Amino acid sequence: MRITGKTQLAGIMGWPVAHSRSPALHNFWLQEHRIEGVYVPLPVRPEQLAPALRALPVLGFRGCNLTLPHKQAALSIVDRVDPLARRIGAMNTVIVAADGSLEGSNTDVYGFRENLRDSVPDWHPAAGPAVVLGAGGAARAIVAALIDDGVAEIRLVNRTRARAERVAAEVAAPPSRTSIHPWNARDAALQDAGLLVNTTSLGMAGEPELDIDLARLPTTAVVVDIVYVPLETALLAAARRRGHRTVDGLGMLLHQGRPGFEAWFGTPVRVTRDLRAAVLTTLAVPR
Ligand code: ATR
Repeated sequence: MRITGKTQLAGIMGWPVAHSRSPALHNFWLQEHRIEGVYVPLPVRPEQLAPALRALPVLGFRGCNLTLPHKQAALSIVDRVDPLARRIGAMNTVIVAADGSLEGSNTDVYGFRENLRDSVPDWHPAAGPAVVLGAGGAARAIVAALIDDGVAEIRLVNRTRARAERVAAEVAAPPSRTSIHPWNARDAALQDAGLLVNTTSLGMAGEPELDIDLARLPTTAVVVDIVYVPLETALLAAARRRGHRTVDGLGMLLHQGRPGFEAWFGTPVRVTRDLRAAVLTTLAVPR
């Protein structure tokens, strides 16, 4: 890699940030398209987020991504927030405008939708109710994506009911109907569903397994896990054995990076097998 005074800069702010796969993703695209640019991890303490963001234009950065714990705090720092990020209550992408002002957006909605389209092109929002397990930041983006796609019924299943209620109140929108189900009713919530999405951390390496009985889920339903370490979670393995089409979490991560990259570096990018393979090599899977 050649670094010169003209090298274009972008990065990711997080605390910690070392675990992020975004540098592998964006640097793959930079090399693939022979763009003179670099994407760097930026460890930024929560109390330093505002000066760090304001430094982006000063240092010549095109923008950055944000990961934990900055996704919410940044909303009140940047100059403009797109309506979708405002509705979800979190942003993960910052673009430095020509005048040095900062624009915030949330590309997780796009990432989820594009990954689903890419992985299961014939899935249709009318396939049946969508069951979403979890009510964190990822669930909020996914619920927004499902509503915007026109899914008529969304069943939110979460351990802490109050969090699911907040998602329903802040993100859900008619004509989609949203219902809330207790965690111990998760098996029953699968009845007649067309889509199941795990947005919880259950099944992730180092976390407990997701304990769910898929017996009531029609085999035509698509099963999505946003966990990507390991790539094939116990949920996806069980779903595959029952004949469901499954979608792993890596694709969402890769697709959510596209809008930021295209805005910063002005080049359209795709999610290819080579990209997946390159990012996969950075995922050590502890068993
Ligand atoms: P993110 O923002 O990445 O989605 P999060 O806000 O930490 O992450 O959300 C994690 C989700 O996993 C939550 O829905 C959480 O349930 P609670 O709202 O009840 O905390 C869910 N989760 C984590 N551990 C769980 C467990 N042992 N059983 C059930 N749900 C769990």
